[in-house]
Order: sequence, then C-alpha cells, then structure tokens
Amino acid sequence: MKIAPLPLPMPRDTRFGKGASKLLLPLCAAFGTKGLVVHSASVKKNGRLEALLSEKPGETDCWQHEGGEPALVQTEAMRRYIQNTAPHWVAAIGGGSVLDLARAAAGLSQAPLSVQEYHDGAEIPESPLPFIAVPTTAGTGSEATTVSVLTNTATGVKKSIRHPSFMARLVLLDPELMTGTPASVLAASGMDALTQAIEAFCSRGATCLTDALAKDAAEKVFNALPGACSGDPSFFDDMMLGSYMAGLALASARLGLVHGLAHPLGARYHAAHGLVCAFCLPPVLAFNRPVIPGKYDTLKRIFRRDPLEAIAALIQKLPLASPFTGQVLSDTQAIIEETLASGSTKANPRDVSADQVQALLNHLFQ
Ligand SMILES: [Fe+2]
Repeated sequence: MKIAPLPLPMPRDTRFGKGASKLLLPLCAAFGTKGLVVHSASVKKNGRLEALLSEKPGETDCWQHEGGEPALVQTEAMRRYIQNTAPHWVAAIGGGSVLDLARAAAGLSQAPLSVQEYHDGAEIPESPLPFIAVPTTAGTGSEATTVSVLTNTATGVKKSIRHPSFMARLVLLDPELMTGTPASVLAASGMDALTQAIEAFCSRGATCLTDALAKDAAEKVFNALPGACSGDPSFFDDMMLGSYMAGLALASARLGLVHGLAHPLGARYHAAHGLVCAFCLPPVLAFNRPVIPGKYDTLKRIFRRDPLEAIAALIQKLPLASPFTGQVLSDTQAIIEETLASGSTKANPRDVSADQVQALLNHLFQ
C-alpha cells in the first residue's frame, strides 16, 4: 500500500480582520522586547507605520525597503544590520517584495555563508529568529510561504531560496491596509493571486488539502477582483483571504509553467510580477488543458464559464496592459534554460520542451 504524504505547513498564528495589524507590537512582545520592523515607503508615508508603532512604544527599530523587487545586495545589507543589532524578532509590513526581503535577511541572519552562496544553491541551515508578516497587498501570498524570491542584479538571475524555518510565526491579515492602493497595483497583484491559485490547483504536487484551499482562493479572488479594483473596500476581505489561501496552497503544492516563465521574463523586462503572470496565464492554461480535463472542468464550475474565456474577460475588465507589447524578444536561449530549470516548471502538470517554451514566448511577444 502506498502512503501519500499530505504536507500543509502553515504560520503558527494567523489573525484576520480590519484592524488586525494593530496587534503587531502587543503580540510580538511574546518573542522579545527588541524588534526590527521592515516596511515599505508607502506605509511610512500614509501614517500607518506610526499608528502601529504607537500601540506599544518600545525598543522597536525600523528599516525602510528602498523599493523594487528584492535583490541579493539589499538582502545582504539587511542581514548585516540584523547581525549587528541582534533583534529578538523581525516583522515585515508591505507587499511581497518587502516580505520576501525581510524573510530572507532574517532567515539567513545566523547562517555562515553569503546570501549569494545560498542563492547559488548552498544548503540553508535552520533559522531561530522569529519572522512576522503583515501584508499590505493581496497577491503574492508571501506571508504564507517559506520562500523568498531574490534577484542577483549582477547576473539578472531571479530565483527563490527557501527553508521550513522561514515560515512566519505570526501573520496579521488586515484588509484595511489595502485602502489607497492604486487600481493598477490591485489588478496586477490580484492576477498573481489568481494565477497562484490556479497553478497550485493544477500542479503535480497538489493534494486534497491544497486543492481545497486553491479552489476557494480562485473563487474568492476571481469574484472580488473587479470590485476591489473599482475601489470598493467591501471586496478587500476576500482578496486578502484568497491571496493568503493561494499562498498556503502553493507552499505545499508548488506552482507551474506561468511562474517558470515569470521569473526570467520579469527580471529582463522589469515588469510587475503580477502583470507578467496575467498575460502568461491564458497561453499556459491552454497548453496544460489536454492533461488536466477534470481540473479544467472544476475551474469551469468555479468561474461559471469556460476558464480561458473567463480569464480573458477578467483581464479585459481590469486596468492591465501586456508588458510584452512593443517589446522585442531577446536572450531567448537563456530565458528558455531558466524556465526549464525552474522548480515551478517542474511542478507543471504537463511536461514542456525547449521548443514548446519557444512557441509560448513567440506567442507572448507577437
Ligand atoms: Fe506569483
């Protein structure tokens, strides 16, 4: 008899609801008196950071992410700061980039090698430093995973590092933090969440547990995304929960070819990750369709119409423009090699050849 594993690692403590982020300092007191809060520029500018830190003034230090997708050099700088200041915990408040950066810097703060060596494949040791995630966007699901996607700006290589001990000890899901996010950002990050839900659902690593999360996540995000982009905050709850649930699903099930393509394309064309995902999703789903008839039918029930038609109609409704229009495809061989080597591509339900990746790229850049 074959015994199948059903892994589902999760953050130990998750709080959800409007105002949940105000619990940051009171709950972090359990990890120690001295903390580092890594944040985006926007949470400082809109006053939310100050409001959170006023809940329980103490020995809390701050680090502002300078912006952009997290790079090795930023991670190394933050890691050195953590080594020098020795906080008892590290919290990140911001979008997926801020969360990924802080998780990697905190997770590697006591590791002996350089960040680049771990990015190049060295084995990562266990991290004892508690990490706390407070997402301000609904998209990456980074708060639910043990993964940080980092770019080596010297080589242009964008890939993930991961360790089970990188999992957040505490996640605060506060839909109020999404207020004021531009519609274009809500749309792109929401399409990342939808792509992740669909890819986790169709992945070779999917289990009945990840399927339950991925299906509900796909339904929540698909139904809430247009309303959220119109600025109606009543849709933010489902966006934030759906994004988190997709993150939980992908942390165990992995993803697929959209994410295999998204990393090399995003690094070269400097396009928002969610935007790249949005436009890679339809051709990849069409490519996978012959090998996932049952799952395709399930998606049809969730979207109440053919999934490819439903996704095309959704993209039309949202403020999204293809990042590939007017661009020239170059460095093709390297893009194909990185796509084929990606762990996400390996989880794709259909095997893919170099020629098939080339055909997908030609389609995207036509
Ligand atoms: Fe993603």
